[in-house]
Amino acid sequence: MKVSIKDLVNSIKDRLSFSKVAMRILKLFESDDLSSYQLAKVIALDPVLAAYILKISNSAYYNFSGKVKTLSDAITLIGFEEIKKIVIMISAKNAFKVSDEIDKMLWEHSLAVAVGCSVINSMVKITEEGEAYISGLLHDIGKIVYKKSELVNYKDIFKKAYDTGEEIRYLEEKEFGYNHADVGGYLLQNWNFEQGIVDAVSFHHLNFTIKKTSDFLKKSALVNLSDFIVNNIIGVGKKETIKDVDTINNLNSSRLIGFYTDNPIALVEEIQQKFMILASTMEEEI
Ligand SMILES: [Fe+2]
Ligand SMILES: [Fe+2]
Repeated sequence: MKVSIKDLVNSIKDRLSFSKVAMRILKLFESDDLSSYQLAKVIALDPVLAAYILKISNSAYYNFSGKVKTLSDAITLIGFEEIKKIVIMISAKNAFKVSDEIDKMLWEHSLAVAVGCSVINSMVKITEEGEAYISGLLHDIGKIVYKKSELVNYKDIFKKAYDTGEEIRYLEEKEFGYNHADVGGYLLQNWNFEQGIVDAVSFHHLNFTIKKTSDFLKKSALVNLSDFIVNNIIGVGKKETIKDVDTINNLNSSRLIGFYTDNPIALVEEIQQKFMILASTMEEEI
C-alpha cells in the first residue's frame, strides 16, 4: 500500500522539528513594530543560537570581522532581515541533523540554494530578502522527510538519481505518487510557515513555461533558478555539471522572473564563495 503524504509527515514528527525559540523569532518578524530590544531578548533565550549569530556576524560573509560583540551590535549592524536568515539557517541545520553523507549533501545543497536565492533576488527583487533565503534553504526539506521516515526506503532513490543524473522528482513520483516538493510544501504548511515560502517550496519543480505569471510562480521560479545553478553549474547536488554557464539565462524560470546576466561566471562565483564561507562557519562547533 502506498504511504500518503500525511502519514509520511506524521511518521517523522519526533525527528524533524524547528526549535521553539526559532519559531517564536519568526513570528516576531511578522509584527510591524518589532524592536531590537525585543528581538535580542528572545534570541538570548537560546544561548547556542545567540553564539552562532555572533559568530556568523563576525565571519567574512559580512564585513564586520571582530566588531560584533553583543546581540544588539549584531542586530544594529547586519539588520533584522539578516538575523532572520541566520536564525532559520541554524534551526534548519539542527533540524536536518546531519548524520551521514546523504544528509551532508542535502544540507550543503540547501545552504547553497539559499545563498543563490538571496544573490539572485538582490538582482531581480522578487520578494523580501529573508523570504527568498528561507525558501531556498527549505526547498528540498521534503527529501529530508522521505529520508528520515521509516515508512519508505529513500536512500536507493537518492543514490540512483545522483548516479544516473535522472530527475529525482520523477523517481519519487513513480515510487510514492508525489514528489519532495509536495511533501515539503505540506510540512511547511503544517509548521505554519508564511504562505509565500510554502508556495515557493511546493512549486519549485514546475516547468515554468506558463505565459501568465503571478507572485507565487515568481517565488518558485527564483528557487528553481538557484537550484539549477547549484546543481548543474556549481555541482553541489549533482555529480555531472554543465560547462556552458550561459544556460542560466535561457531557463524558463529565468525568463519568467525577467532574469538576465551578461556575466554568469561572476554570479556563479559569488554564490559559490558566499556558500563556502557559510558552510565552513557552520561546520565548526560552538
Ligand atoms: Fe527539489
Ligand atoms: Fe534542490
